[in-house]
Amino acid sequence: MNNPIGIYDSGVGGLSVLHHIRAQLPYESLIYLADQAHVPYGARTQAEIRQFGVEIVHFLRQQGCKLVVVACNTATTAALAFLRQQFPDLPFVGMEPAVKPAAAQTRNGRIGILATPGTFRSERYAELLARFAEKTAVFEDPCLGLVQQIEAGATDDPATDALLTTILRPMLANGVDTLVLGCTHYPFVRPAIERVLAHLAPARPVAILDPAPAVARQTARRLQLHNLLTLATCPGSVTFYTSGDLASFSRFIQSQQTSLAIGKSEVLCPKKFV
Ligand code: DGL
Repeated sequence: MNNPIGIYDSGVGGLSVLHHIRAQLPYESLIYLADQAHVPYGARTQAEIRQFGVEIVHFLRQQGCKLVVVACNTATTAALAFLRQQFPDLPFVGMEPAVKPAAAQTRNGRIGILATPGTFRSERYAELLARFAEKTAVFEDPCLGLVQQIEAGATDDPATDALLTTILRPMLANGVDTLVLGCTHYPFVRPAIERVLAHLAPARPVAILDPAPAVARQTARRLQLHNLLTLATCPGSVTFYTSGDLASFSRFIQSQQTSLAIGKSEVLCPKKFV
């Protein structure tokens, strides 16, 4: 089935998931929607995030999407179960902070989770901890201001490094050896995180976990299960929408074009979603 896959996030973060979906399923067409009129989702109520989700999924369905990836941990925890109820005939894939793999692979039983306040408040996150991290010491940071830095394109910037230093120093003081990127925006500052960790504790390797590759594999499995894989034999199209500012969204995706593994002609004209 050659219809597109819909992918959405509060902003540019879900592009880190799009990158892995594109790499695993290059012949699938993708529609990406950044809800930048409402970013950040992290401080919003569950009711707001659900309402945004319903509007976005309606739109993606109108575009013919055969499956929707909620490429946002905050929206997944606040709205995914609700969206599945509202759109029972549409398959969904959501994010999950990598608590389970982190608890399984930590050597000293101490893990750090970077996520948004909304994710930390959620029942789904509490369930993950209870299920998989009962015997693990978990250190959390809501990374206030980090999503805004990334949305502004300041992924390689002294102010972002300074913010990451204040976030990561206590994590290292607590001895974490494994760090979970529990928000889809954070892979965009992974090089900065690595730089700050190397600076603060050069002799202490910290494993960094991003659930996006597993989410891309899950997307492929769901398509297969529902018999929805494309029959196309050439690369699919990628279409971008934003509810925010077209020019700055366009600048961001162009600056990340190489790492997103999408062709030049595909990124130049994002469209407006209202
Ligand atoms: N990218 C979103 C996530 O994965 C959150 C960013 C926001 O707060 O809007 O949680």
